[in-house]
Amino acid sequence: MYVLGIETSCDETGVAVYHSRHGLLSHRLYSQVALHAPYGGIVPELASRDHVRKLLPLIRQTLADADLSLETLDGVAYTAGPGLIGALLVGASTGHSLAWSLNIPVVAVHHMEGHLLAPLLETPDLQPPFLALLISGGHTLLIEVRRLGEYRLLGESIDDAVGEAFDKVAKMLDLGYPGGPALEKLAREGNPERFAFPRPMCGRPGLDFSFSGLKTFTLHTLAATSGTPQDKADIARGFQDAVADTLAIKCRRALRQTNIERLVAAGGVCANQAIRRRLADVSGGENAELFLPRPEFCTDNGAMIAFAGCLRLLAGQQEGHSIVARARWNLEDLPPIALQSGLLPHAGAAGCCSGDARTTKPT
Ligand code: KG4
Ligand code: ZN
Repeated sequence: MYVLGIETSCDETGVAVYHSRHGLLSHRLYSQVALHAPYGGIVPELASRDHVRKLLPLIRQTLADADLSLETLDGVAYTAGPGLIGALLVGASTGHSLAWSLNIPVVAVHHMEGHLLAPLLETPDLQPPFLALLISGGHTLLIEVRRLGEYRLLGESIDDAVGEAFDKVAKMLDLGYPGGPALEKLAREGNPERFAFPRPMCGRPGLDFSFSGLKTFTLHTLAATSGTPQDKADIARGFQDAVADTLAIKCRRALRQTNIERLVAAGGVCANQAIRRRLADVSGGENAELFLPRPEFCTDNGAMIAFAGCLRLLAGQQEGHSIVARARWNLEDLPPIALQSGLLPHAGAAGCCSGDARTTKPT
């Protein structure tokens, strides 16, 4: 089954073709970073308009990369939420129109399920039960996955998402937008001993997170220095270490509480090498396996949407003629993915998707 995946939930236009047996055949990403940079953040209306401009050419190029025509497609998957409603509508209406004109099924994909399943792109043998830490610009979720498509929320951020905190702290440090990768770069020059950032909500039971206090701590710490490049690097390092530690502590707690021995972590913030290392330490210490998508599949992309959509189409799920777009959408409300055994797609092989998503496999 050839599935076209479309991602337009935020500031990235992503398109991919996934084949149920041959894996990922092609994927392309167009980033709107340059468009939003002068404003210091994402301007939703500009994002929607840019998706309108870029999506169709990107679909043509992605199909051409795989040497396919539109008529080869067996299904279309698009991100239906959560995200910016105008941006989502571009992908949703394009997906439905394409499927309708080609007389093939179309399926609405939850963006965070796309992230959650991304490690399976390269390790299809990864089976539930597993825990999933999803860390992006809009979400911080700790999920128990007993069966594909059945998600139980164990913990979430009660205020800012991790990515949001990275972006806001980066702004305080004059690193511009997007802040996460720039902050990670600066933190490499920083002294980890200089500032003692708190590990929020780790001293009490539970699996929820809070990151807004780290922002305030950053603001006060910065104000108490003279703001030299070294001061900023030390602050970046203190902040990043605190985030990485906090995430790792909560993952360890969740592994122990559930007795689950596999941890998946995904979402844009998981591109951060310090966080990846910290999660590897913790899962190693707990004798758990850690599955991380490579950084390219941590941040938004069309491949994860094509893959999640392919699973749901194989399970017989599809939309009617109504276009689905939801700014908010609870992951726990999704129907299970009822795959008949043996139908799980086998990924790998494709040149554009070589490499190993599994960065750590402690013995
Ligand atoms: O998953 P994603 O691409 O989009 C959303 O679904 O939100 O995540 C974007 C977030 C942004 O907040 C960005 O700053 C953060 O991921 N991010 C990072 C890194 N790369 C992206 N945060 C920390 N370190 C990074 N290397
Ligand atoms: Zn995302």
